[in-house]
Amino acid sequence: MKYHRQTIGTHLYILNEIGSTNTELLEHSDRYEHGSVLCARRQTAGRGRHQRNWRSQDGGLYFSILLKDHKDISSIYPFILLSALAVVRNIQSCATQGVAIKWPNDVYINHRKVCGIFAESSTQGNTNNIVIGIGINANNKVSHLKDLRNPAVSLKECRGKEIDLIPLLYHLVDELDKLYVDHLNENFSDHLPELNQLLYAKGQKVEIRSAGETRAIIPLSFTEDAKLLCLENGKEILFFLGEM
Ligand code: BTN
Repeated sequence: MKYHRQTIGTHLYILNEIGSTNTELLEHSDRYEHGSVLCARRQTAGRGRHQRNWRSQDGGLYFSILLKDHKDISSIYPFILLSALAVVRNIQSCATQGVAIKWPNDVYINHRKVCGIFAESSTQGNTNNIVIGIGINANNKVSHLKDLRNPAVSLKECRGKEIDLIPLLYHLVDELDKLYVDHLNENFSDHLPELNQLLYAKGQKVEIRSAGETRAIIPLSFTEDAKLLCLENGKEILFFLGEM
């Protein structure tokens, strides 16, 4: 059966080069429809969380989604987590084991980062425009990224052959659209068992960065409201996406 997109990707733009797909959608939201997806083959000023650069040479998959007119930014947090789930579901043919979602929303394969997600917002009158940017190391070289705190890996390396980027983009956008419908219908908790199976370092001590601090915690599970339940010094605490 052919699946018709409802919101995400009904308008899909693919460019050869841009500074940053996130910046473009944030700064020129008036030029794009709600649910637009903007993809670029390379970015000259790709950005990641914590003011980091996101190297975006040819071969990677770089795209952003624009969601307009949100009164409350935090209402989108469950969908940001579902975006990581959409990525996982679409890369499982490249790696059958070791795929995990590392809080807040990175995708890892065998402890190496394959995808980063960066959500940002801009205010327009009483409402907010939200942009969710997704960067996937697909066929791009990541060997120069070995010295990072979080070592990187590409899908090509895992699969042993090149990935067709456009089919991957289309499948991902379809999945994102389906999960967006679930999000709007408040069905986030239907995905909790799968999300919790994918939780990186579940039950193990790891460091996470929150509000500029690095904290040693033990991740336990995602919660019904898309927070992360952890143990810190033996006490249960909750992290929410806005803190990261
Ligand atoms: C991170 O791990 O820090 C998140 C990286 C997100 C990168 C993507 S690539 C598409 C979009 N455009 C950007 O400038 N950044 C995001």
